Amino acid sequence: MSNTPRFAIVMISLALAAILGLAIGFYWPTAGIKDGIAQAKSIERGKDLATFGCSGCHNLEASGKSPNKAAPPFRTLVKRLSQEGLQEQLEVALSMGHAPMPPWNINPSQSEDLLSFIESLRQAKNN
Ligand code: HEC
Repeated sequence: MSNTPRFAIVMISLALAAILGLAIGFYWPTAGIKDGIAQAKSIERGKDLATFGCSGCHNLEASGKSPNKAAPPFRTLVKRLSQEGLQEQLEVALSMGHAPMPPWNINPSQSEDLLSFIESLRQAKNN
């Protein structure tokens, strides 16, 4: 019976260590994974938007030509522009319309998705 308090302390310490271990071992990596998943979803939504609204003229892929020869493939935009530059160009192109394309009123989260998608083309090998 005199062992009970020591036993309790050992058990509590083990439990605390386990909780701490779980917190460190699981929380940090899953936070990173969640960011990655959110980013992947944003890119996917952006690609859907671009497929719907832009692919009639612009090539969206890692290679190939644009359907409208005057419209630069999106991968060439990221080659020329920084992320801020691209964001600016996008805002102008969307709000004012450009060349044969009328203004396109999408909400800020949609234009963020579009930006994520076009930014993802920075990984494209063939630009
Ligand atoms: C009807 C054809 C057409 C559609 C649809 C279209 N574009 Fe364009 N886009 C063009 C042409 C042509 C140019 C090149 C001439 C110009 O810049 O005005 C261009 C240029 C651009 C540029 C400027 C690139 C630079 O040189 O800096 C951006 C950014 C852009 N488009 C984004 C978009 C986005 C985003 C969409 C979809 C929401 C879209 N475009 C849909 C025809 C189109």
